[in-house]
Amino acid sequence: MDLFTFTRAELTSPVQLAGDRWVVSAYDDVRAVLADPVTFLPDNALTAVTPVAPAALRTLVRARFSLPPTLANNGSESHTALRRLVASFFTPARVAAAEPRIRSLVLERLGGADLVRSLAWDLPAIVLMELLGLENVDIPTLKRWSTGSLEFFWGDITRERQLELVDDVGEFHQWLVKRYHARDGELFRALADAGVSAEDSAGLCYFLLIAGQETTTQLLSTALRKALADRPLWARLSSPGVAEEFVEDVLRTDTPVVTWRRLTAREVVLSGVRVPAGAELVLLLSGKETDPRHLAFGYGRHFCLGAGLARLEAAVTLRTVAAHEPSLRLTGPEPEWLNLLSFRAPKSVAVTRPAEV
Ligand code: HEM
Repeated sequence: MDLFTFTRAELTSPVQLAGDRWVVSAYDDVRAVLADPVTFLPDNALTAVTPVAPAALRTLVRARFSLPPTLANNGSESHTALRRLVASFFTPARVAAAEPRIRSLVLERLGGADLVRSLAWDLPAIVLMELLGLENVDIPTLKRWSTGSLEFFWGDITRERQLELVDDVGEFHQWLVKRYHARDGELFRALADAGVSAEDSAGLCYFLLIAGQETTTQLLSTALRKALADRPLWARLSSPGVAEEFVEDVLRTDTPVVTWRRLTAREVVLSGVRVPAGAELVLLLSGKETDPRHLAFGYGRHFCLGAGLARLEAAVTLRTVAAHEPSLRLTGPEPEWLNLLSFRAPKSVAVTRPAEV
């Protein structure tokens, strides 16, 4: 089984060994794993899926790159305070207040021939920078760093590809350290004032600035494509509540963060299968067609801090595009897909606007 492309339909057991990783897919098992960070450590959440080869590692060492335990990969006590600090930027009130801005960004981006390029690509990054109070960020550079980092850490890649990507990984990290020392932006000032070290701050921001927008780009891409494939739905999307409900459906069955990892601290039994200590679990977060529940944003202590923001961005985007472009149609061949261990989405959503009769 190919861990980078598999679907639920290919699984023959709720706990299935694939290479040296264990794929866990039953809802109750996945939730129980996420609910118990002592038995199932989050330490491997950001570990490179393809081990970093020596040549690329040298570049990372030169760039003083490090990802100490901060948020997603932090099973220690320091997690609580760091999580609280970051959560203060994404309170329900702050997120709700972003709605008019999200709508106007969508309106400025109508009319493209590929909705990923014209709309889904930069909108989440702009919204995130504004919520974190980070000014003068060159968005195309941020996107190059963050897409490169996703592929570097979650991709099935060759040594040559690692070398092509590693400079982006290192540069991004160095930029974060520089902004921290310059106290350049609300987020960096909050981290420095709370006594968070430069190294922890850079590690935290490295994850936050990727997770906080790449995943939403992917959700927008999948949701737009899926909605456009369903004409009756597209016609109803601007009615109250329809976009929100549709976004939940997309999160349930086609979520962009399709898997998330944990490490067993001791031998465990899941769905009757014995899994040794030190095993890497790949938890399937995408739900079953027949089950209304989903774990797209995780569960428990590490539950996604951006769930409300991602849901809002997706619903506002769908509603606004559908209201202004009722005759929009998908076109072209099947798109290329992003297929990483934890991230899946179409890389383009090609559209056409037939002249209305
Ligand atoms: C469709 C969009 C998104 C999806 C599907 C998603 C999914 C996830 C998942 C599965 C986790 C791990 C949860 C766990 O271990 O239980 C997570 C953690 C996290 N996400 Fe998201 N996320 C999305 C958007 C965002 C956004 C917009 C932000 C920006 C604030 C964000 C920030 C975080 C943070 C900071 C964590 C780590 C929390 C912690 O360890 O305490 N995510 N996300």
